[in-house]
Amino acid sequence: EKGGYATFMEKEIHDQPHAVADTLLGRTDESGRLVLDEMNISEEQLKAVDRIIVVACGTAAYAGMVAKYAIEHWTRIPVEVALAHEFRYCDPIVSERTLVVSISQSGETMDTLMAVKHARDIGAMTISICNTHGSTIPRESDAVLYTHAGPEIAVASTKAFLAQITCCYVLGLYLAQLRGGSYADDAQSVMKELGQVPEKIETLLGQMDRVKEIAGFMADSRSVLFLGRHVGYPVALEGALKLKELAYIHAEGFAAGELKHGPIALIEPGQPVFVVVPSPTSEHGLHGKVVSNIQEIRARGARTLVIAEEGDEAVEPFADEVIRVPATAPLLAPLLTVVPLQVFALWLSTAKGLDVDQPRNLAKSVTVE
Ligand code: F6R
Repeated sequence: EKGGYATFMEKEIHDQPHAVADTLLGRTDESGRLVLDEMNISEEQLKAVDRIIVVACGTAAYAGMVAKYAIEHWTRIPVEVALAHEFRYCDPIVSERTLVVSISQSGETMDTLMAVKHARDIGAMTISICNTHGSTIPRESDAVLYTHAGPEIAVASTKAFLAQITCCYVLGLYLAQLRGGSYADDAQSVMKELGQVPEKIETLLGQMDRVKEIAGFMADSRSVLFLGRHVGYPVALEGALKLKELAYIHAEGFAAGELKHGPIALIEPGQPVFVVVPSPTSEHGLHGKVVSNIQEIRARGARTLVIAEEGDEAVEPFADEVIRVPATAPLLAPLLTVVPLQVFALWLSTAKGLDVDQPRNLAKSVTVE
């Protein structure tokens, strides 16, 4: 049942090319236009959406953060991400033109369920992005988009995360297509690019030996930091969460631009820092800014573990380790850049002799508030 792997988590990391491919399956017609059959909200209602609020917890909320960058870019609809357990208590402002998108692997997370019910009660439209057929959250929502990651057994989420991000892209591109305008034209080309991602994840998974080796050396680490920017920021947060959950190591993710506003004080000789580098093709010169961040922390003695696109030579002089990921469109990069961080947490946990699939104090679905 573990497909020849020692743990469910390792298997599920290796299932990821399929999780993404299966989540894309059947969502375009022969001409490449997006079709969402599971959408029980009318096209008129969706065209009228003027605000999106994503509600989710943990890893699913990080998928929501990625969604914010992508959906705002493609649709120009403002997107907000709310932790589900906070949403209900912050007196949220919604109207009948607000679309509340919940993201949940299990479909049973009580905090997320309560947020969805509240959203509905106060008059918003609700869509559930969910991995579990017949679960409660989709039943309580106006519409559902299933992620097709297959059952996720390991407590820490991996393939469901990639499938959630994929589903968010699909939703964003669908809304863009529906609304017309300049970004609608991009929908088909982005879908094409997205279609190539599973193969790239496969390639990447074949290059993880060095990451495993690095994790093996780091079992004694007391703290590991993660930096990212733009869509790399939620990836940094997810990398830190995986390490906390699986290896019980203090870990924190930061937006790289925030470094100089405080966290750089944490950097001392030997401090390991993962840096998720934006593609050199990213807008607004973000790549150069993150390369400068690497230089700054390296000058203060940090041990820099750099995740960078294939062919990005600019990072070499400041990196203690460079972990290469295949190139893709900047907004789609999280589907690749998060993989080495999952693999790192898996092998660090293993190196410490811990139970990878069942970390202490955690349950697969949190059905209490
Ligand atoms: C992290 C993890 C949790 C879940 C969160 C939401 O590895 O598994 O953070 O992502 O509890 O769970 P779902 O997606 O089932 O609502």
